[in-house]
Amino acid sequence: MKKKITKAIFPVAGLGTRFLPATKSIPKEIMTLVDRPLIQYAIDEARAAGIKEFIFVTSRGKSALEDYFDHSPELEATLRRKDKNDLLDLLKSTNMDSGAIAYLRQNRPLGLGHAVWCARRLIANEPFAVILPDDVIAAETPCLQQMVEAHAETGGNMVAAMEVPADKASSYGILDVKEDHGAMVSVKGMVEKPNEGTAPSNLAVIGRYILTPEIMTNLNKIKSGKGGEIQLTDAIAHEIENSDNVYGFRFKGQRYDCGSKAGFLQATVAFGLSRPDLCDEFGDFLQDLMSIRAAAQ
Ligand code: G1P
Repeated sequence: MKKKITKAIFPVAGLGTRFLPATKSIPKEIMTLVDRPLIQYAIDEARAAGIKEFIFVTSRGKSALEDYFDHSPELEATLRRKDKNDLLDLLKSTNMDSGAIAYLRQNRPLGLGHAVWCARRLIANEPFAVILPDDVIAAETPCLQQMVEAHAETGGNMVAAMEVPADKASSYGILDVKEDHGAMVSVKGMVEKPNEGTAPSNLAVIGRYILTPEIMTNLNKIKSGKGGEIQLTDAIAHEIENSDNVYGFRFKGQRYDCGSKAGFLQATVAFGLSRPDLCDEFGDFLQDLMSIRAAAQ
């Protein structure tokens, strides 16, 4: 029987320089879409997919993340005294049981592959998920859950995949497709951020992965790749040669690149409009704004 995927790694060690000065004193993952930090979207998605152990690979200056997932006795006592039960319930989704969450430090910024490798002892010999919180995915069935369901059929290594415009391929890991079965593709090669004009396709890796423990072994061996960093893409590509068990999964949903300012704003607008408590007021405001813009043109 296939082992259940119960562990997920969240690489959150990045400096977030694209969001300076905000990220001078707060981790990027604590920045909010409407009223929830980016990291909460990632955690909710992981929980929906059956993840029970949450492994954060952090760096200096990320302690606000640890506080975020902790209990807040004073705040909770005040809310209880004031009978604010709805807010108390909301806070529950931020709490993690002791032992369910682990924090590891990546003490040098050597790349995404290195960050994942930092968690090797906690992963041991089990399949695991990786979630990049910058990629926020709005979907009826959360993306990782879609992948866990698809993975039950295939096993092996699976990456979330999405078509991107050709001129954007150099910003992503790109799949070289062997067989295209629609939602599922088998993969015969992977390139991290290919130089312009050399991408094997326009099917890009998006920040959700289900990986076999062999990836940790590969990460141990591979040399630095694109940008002089240890690349997760390279370690997965290695597994194509070793076991030929790498799949791309075209998820259903809308992905927002919250690692970029434009993507973050798009996500803010989309999530704001999808909230019943905000959509009327916010929708009217956007409409007014658009008509002012149209009149000015
Ligand atoms: C990382 C991965 C890349 C992937 C991307 C998805 O790159 O290295 O393969 O396509 O995430 O968001 P980053 O955007 O962190 O540079």
